[in-house]
Amino acid sequence: MRPRHYLSIIVLLFLTAGSFSIVSAADLPDIHILATGGTIAGTAENASELGHYQAGNLSVATLISSVPEMSTYARVTGEQICNLNSDEITPMIWLRLANRVNELLKSPDVDGVVITHGTDTLEETAYFLNLAVKSDKPVVITGAMRPATAISADGPLNLLNAVILAGSHDAAGKGVLILLNGEINGARDTTKTNTEMVETFRSPDFGLFGYMDNEVPKFYRESLKLHTSGTDFDVSSLKSLPKVDIVLLYPGADQTAIDAFVANSTEGLVVASMGNGGYQAEVRSALLDVVNKGIPVVISSRTGTGVCTPEDPEFIPADTLTPQKARVLLMLALTRTNNQDEIAEMFREY
Ligand code: SIN
Repeated sequence: MRPRHYLSIIVLLFLTAGSFSIVSAADLPDIHILATGGTIAGTAENASELGHYQAGNLSVATLISSVPEMSTYARVTGEQICNLNSDEITPMIWLRLANRVNELLKSPDVDGVVITHGTDTLEETAYFLNLAVKSDKPVVITGAMRPATAISADGPLNLLNAVILAGSHDAAGKGVLILLNGEINGARDTTKTNTEMVETFRSPDFGLFGYMDNEVPKFYRESLKLHTSGTDFDVSSLKSLPKVDIVLLYPGADQTAIDAFVANSTEGLVVASMGNGGYQAEVRSALLDVVNKGIPVVISSRTGTGVCTPEDPEFIPADTLTPQKARVLLMLALTRTNNQDEIAEMFREY
């Protein structure tokens, strides 16, 4: 063998020894999974059944044991927060989750948190945590569009990618991240866009943050809006969240829904207006009455994209937040203040 070949073998051995130390158990990040249910924990009668199944049927222990590949990338532990179809997730569960995430991330023994969640309301939980978690450590929320029993189920790979992402230094300080289908998205601007397809979470205004490139997270952008440690919200002592409702406008809409919400003790209204702050004269006057009662009104758009800038200064612009995201921010804003200008400032910053 020629000397150059000996040298190659020595270099190879050196690199191999180095790579062993890179993946030694002591160096792996500690990632804790909080499971809440959803299709990722769902089961159907047979592998070809993709539409009719029971969401939230498998335990966190089953989810972890079904993806043994995670142990190559992290020391994984888990706990069950609830096991629900995400249509049943409540603001009380958001509070429990936020407080548990904050408690876990305070510990030097936890490097990142993964939350498994149904996709229907994943975006609201993600944005709530984006505003209420007080840590720069990675928090990644994932789910699945196909139940665990499905042919070509997407849950296992999403969970593996979420654990890798939560253990990555690059994911720190970027707010709560949504990871499905190999795509890394930010919590503020991302919404579920398709009822069935695995490529459903998109940020239509601003685009995704990055990709999982064969188990390697690659980031290309992040949000400039304040999040996590940068917000004023402290949910540690809250027993509940203010009641905020959404009024969807459409041709021929009247003040019926507004009156009903006020009669049912709403503390804030978000309007999904037509276009850029479009509402009927009757609706406008009903909304002004609401503001005069000291109940803030936020105007968002039902279009799904773009900045919303209503003409009436009595109402708070939702900026680019969708109605459901604006509701989350208004609920948290009302835990701090009732002042219209202060709330409007939060809608500019967050
Ligand atoms: C749910 O949101 O719990 C059901 C739908 C899903 O997870 O994809």
